[in-house]
Amino acid sequence: MHKSIQDIIDMKKNEKKISVITSYDYTLATLCDRAEVDVLLVGDSAGMVMLGYENTIPVTMDQMCMFTEAVSRARQNSLLVADLPFMSYQVNIDDAIKNSGKLIKAGADAVKLEGGSTMAETISAIVDVGIPVMGHIGLQPQTTMLYQGYKVQGKTKNSALKLIDDAKELEEAGVFSIALEMISHEVAEIISETINVPTIGIGSGVGCDGQVLVIQDLLGMYDKIKPKFVKRYMNLSEDITRTIENYNKDIKSGMFPAPEHWFSMDPKELENLREEIGK
Ligand code: KIV
Repeated sequence: MHKSIQDIIDMKKNEKKISVITSYDYTLATLCDRAEVDVLLVGDSAGMVMLGYENTIPVTMDQMCMFTEAVSRARQNSLLVADLPFMSYQVNIDDAIKNSGKLIKAGADAVKLEGGSTMAETISAIVDVGIPVMGHIGLQPQTTMLYQGYKVQGKTKNSALKLIDDAKELEEAGVFSIALEMISHEVAEIISETINVPTIGIGSGVGCDGQVLVIQDLLGMYDKIKPKFVKRYMNLSEDITRTIENYNKDIKSGMFPAPEHWFSMDPKELENLREEIGK
């Protein structure tokens, strides 16, 4: 049986840190699940790392459903959360509920959406129909990015107070957890101490109840941007490029394939064939 929403909430109560990693495809999701990460997040960062968009704005519901289905076929242990993409929940509450339902039908256990207090009503409505919601405050790539760029949030007293209020309102609206993106570590810690549901930090310091990273970032596969908060556990892009160069060279030089990679006919059948075609 995979982890439940209650398991994740209980981890905060029991002071156990929560591990979250983004997942978008069957193969890597299988490995993340096997590594017993607590939560697989089908983030809309898929638009950048999987589809090559400049940002997350173009990501569609159909794309998010496809990634969610692939990850849900792989997961056995982890909780599966999927992002609602830009404009799938902001226009009206009916859309937000319908689109959350699509992600649940695609295999997610919960949805995540960006926004502070302005999203509280939408979150309550989604939670009321029985769909668990993870909030997301601080840097919100779908919108904050449009006018501020990558900027640390909560560096002044007023912006800190706004973030703390946002977190409280989301908790009241019924979220089971909140992602805190690029918030100064002091404010992230205050939020984590203030609310009862777990906080999942990305670039927000060690005071959060859990941490999330984009899988391509931690494996060192995505070179376009290198945020300061990413810990690269590998430099896979170099290893992969070198490996593909070797494959390329082997094909050109005739080193690949070798006899162990091909299949043979029965010698008698081959002889008969040669006789028949005169070769
Ligand atoms: O889209 C995403 O991957 C995310 C996380 C980085 C929090 O929202």
